[in-house]
Amino acid sequence: MTKKKTAKIIDGKAVAAKVKEEIKAQVADMIDKHFDTPHLAAVIVGENPASQTYVASKEKAAQRVGMTSSVYRLPQDITEDELLKTIEFLNNDREVDGFIVQLPLPPQIDVDKVIGAIDPAKDVDGFHPVNVGKMVLGEPGYVSATPAGIMELLKRYHIKTEGKHCVVLGRSNIVGTPVSILMSRKANPGNATVTVCHSKTENIEEYTRAADILICAIGRPRFIKADMVKQGAVVIDVGIHRIPADNEKGYRLAGDVDFDEVAKIAAYITPVPGGVGPMTIAMLLKNTLSAAKKEFYR
Ligand code: GUN
Repeated sequence: MTKKKTAKIIDGKAVAAKVKEEIKAQVADMIDKHFDTPHLAAVIVGENPASQTYVASKEKAAQRVGMTSSVYRLPQDITEDELLKTIEFLNNDREVDGFIVQLPLPPQIDVDKVIGAIDPAKDVDGFHPVNVGKMVLGEPGYVSATPAGIMELLKRYHIKTEGKHCVVLGRSNIVGTPVSILMSRKANPGNATVTVCHSKTENIEEYTRAADILICAIGRPRFIKADMVKQGAVVIDVGIHRIPADNEKGYRLAGDVDFDEVAKIAAYITPVPGGVGPMTIAMLLKNTLSAAKKEFYR
């Protein structure tokens, strides 16, 4: 009987733990040398339960690596001017090395205006146009956490990207667009030939089947089936969805990829949960450490 081949699991939880250990050692070293303790602040507007969970996780993770963290909680009906004042305060607060404004924001607020008001030197989310521009030009700066986490996974698993066909599903500012740029730039990982697919792409499966590396950030639960994936492909799943399940919680988590099916076809695959997700916070902490060390801005 021949043994059925299954994909190697890319263990984001384990890699994130390793990255956080490395950060923790560097934070301890900074404190030993009498530098200020790195400080990450977060701004959260309103009571969005998912945002509350994310911010609480970021706060806890920062503390676990020895950083200081603080959270600014603002009401749902805050005006844009008041939010901009909080950003100005954080820009000028010498004790804060980096901060994030958790998204989404309520409809009365112009997100681009808010992101544009953050001092690029403190923009550890890497969302400010200056940091996005630096990434596009290949200059040192903050790269947003999810794409940076994907690149770190490819690097630590020694996955060859040079000359490969990478297909990215999704073109969001947070994931699809930046990861497509990082995969095509002259670097390792990188040097891939990149195709970006999105909601207007026709015959999407023709592209997904041609991918050596398939990065799925399309926001549709279990959209990618086995017959859409090339044998031996590397599949990176950025999606995270709650789907109804017959268990205590009433739901389970699933990605954009039908994991059980695709794991039989792919060479490597990230699970959900435990793949890209845990890397996001680890890379945010890495950016905060860079901010404290003034690596990119004086
Ligand atoms: N909302 C969803 N993902 C993110 C993120 O990475 N940063 C911020 N600030 N908000 C988010």
